Amino acid sequence: MTILCRLEDVAEDDARGFEIDGHSLIVVRRDGAVYVYVNWCPHLGIELNFQEDEFFDLENHYLQCANHGALFEVDSGLCVLGPCKGNALRKAEFVIEGGAIRLLSMPQRLR
Ligand code: FES
Repeated sequence: MTILCRLEDVAEDDARGFEIDGHSLIVVRRDGAVYVYVNWCPHLGIELNFQEDEFFDLENHYLQCANHGALFEVDSGLCVLGPCKGNALRKAEFVIEGGAIRLLSMPQRLR
């Protein structure tokens, strides 16, 4: 299993991007939970962020695509507003072992 990062690499209520084996992934921590998504907007199939590690909307509530503003729920990845409403970010399966986030498999992009 591939180590994506350590838990302490991402602060609570924050999100960071990681590149691994050519895949761009987002690790989000919120309310004690950890989420890992493929950094790939379901609208046009491009990365969500323009700036490094900038994934939240202004209120720090939703993940936001910088391209056209789509908003995604942190816990489900579901797009609730924007051009891809009803679609979702793709989740990556992982386990946390010894403080490390380990990917169970390398997720595929949507396209
Ligand atoms: S590419 Fe993400 S909202 Fe358009």
